[in-house]
Amino acid sequence: MSALPLAHAPGQWRVAATRRIEYELRKADDVFDPQNDALLAGGRSRGSRRFVVIDDQVHRLHGARVAAYFQSRGVQARILALPGGEEHKDEAAWRRVLQALDAFPIHRRDEPVIAIGGGVLTDVVGFAASCYRRGLPHIKVPTTLMGYVDAAVGIKTGINFNGHKNRLGSFEPPRRVLLDRRLLATLAPRHLRNGVCEIVKLAVICDAGLFDLLERSGADALASAFQAGASAAILDRAVGGMLRELAPNLYEDDLARAVDFGHTFSYGLEMRHAATLLHGEAVLLDVLASTVIAERRGLLAEADGERVLALVARLGLQPEPRLLEPAHMWQALLDRIEHRNGHQHVPLPTAIGACAFADDVVFPEIEAAVAALTERMTGHEPIAQC
Ligand SMILES: NC(=O)c1ccc[n+]([C@@H]2O[C@H](COP(=O)([O-])OP(=O)(O)OC[C@H]3O[C@@H](n4cnc5c(N)ncnc54)[C@H](O)[C@@H]3O)[C@@H](O)[C@H]2O)c1
Repeated sequence: MSALPLAHAPGQWRVAATRRIEYELRKADDVFDPQNDALLAGGRSRGSRRFVVIDDQVHRLHGARVAAYFQSRGVQARILALPGGEEHKDEAAWRRVLQALDAFPIHRRDEPVIAIGGGVLTDVVGFAASCYRRGLPHIKVPTTLMGYVDAAVGIKTGINFNGHKNRLGSFEPPRRVLLDRRLLATLAPRHLRNGVCEIVKLAVICDAGLFDLLERSGADALASAFQAGASAAILDRAVGGMLRELAPNLYEDDLARAVDFGHTFSYGLEMRHAATLLHGEAVLLDVLASTVIAERRGLLAEADGERVLALVARLGLQPEPRLLEPAHMWQALLDRIEHRNGHQHVPLPTAIGACAFADDVVFPEIEAAVAALTERMTGHEPIAQC
């Protein structure tokens, strides 16, 4: 850091500082095995404390092992279980975490908060950790596919506010992320498919190899709850690809981001259809609409567009295009223009695994794309289910 008087302006100083961001993601086989050091590494261990927030479903399944883990390590743990689900990603959950944290004093540096759960839980806990005493370190253990390949991978935290998704949040790098694929074994099929939607997004916009892998082995991986076959290869490639996109632009200084593919027209969709639509499902609808927009612009070959639709059908994802309402999509785009500082920056695929940004999308082309997509989707019956 430097604080220098400005030579040309007496009585004014300029502060410039750089802070290094460094965190690691590592695969951890059986993270709750008392022999496994991963949960405690990077902090004080025997005789120390940990504030642990865990998704209530994960608590039901693994709570006893989690408690036994800390007990066997001589670490005093306060374990708070919170419900997952988008409807619980709110100020009340955030405040509950902060109140419980305030009642369980922990060191500010060497007793990291531990978040074990899906994207909702890790987003809420990451945000609370970033606020409490202006920032406590935290560790994320994703337990959903969405968390494993996306929500736990980057540095964004957030809660829904004022009817808007993720309207409050922070950039808060975790200290580490522990990836234990076994935890996915108990996920409901719909939540597995929800996570797959984000992997499809990534494949279409920036990784043709991942797309091939999904075509060949995605349905089998899904059917095994990502426990068998090519599952590990798909997950590794998805996490690596996500990091390649996020790492050079962690704080989103560049607002034209390929990983925003699927996150333009979908904005607000899952809040509007809270009872029927999960995050990944909304993203997939946007991916498909954007794919058709790209085709109709002549940016994407029709054969590639067909491959995307065929993969979606092959994976049994069953998106419902009738939920795409052009007027709402247009409103979502207008909101994204604020978010993207005055630009549309709509990511569109130009081939499988390649991206361009559009800044001139107009309402009639959204309408036409939705109509075309709805018509085409009826020609692709799902052939794989899990
Ligand atoms: N921070 C980011 O960069 C980022 C990126 C992508 C998504 N997200 C956020 O992630 C959220 C969605 O995450 P999600 O799909 O994980 O939802 P979620 O956290 O609500 O979890 C889905 C369901 O699975 C249950 N569950 C969790 N782990 C389980 C397990 N191992 N076995 C059985 N059930 C389990 C939960 O209780 C919940 O009912 C959205 O709010 C989205 O905005 C954030």
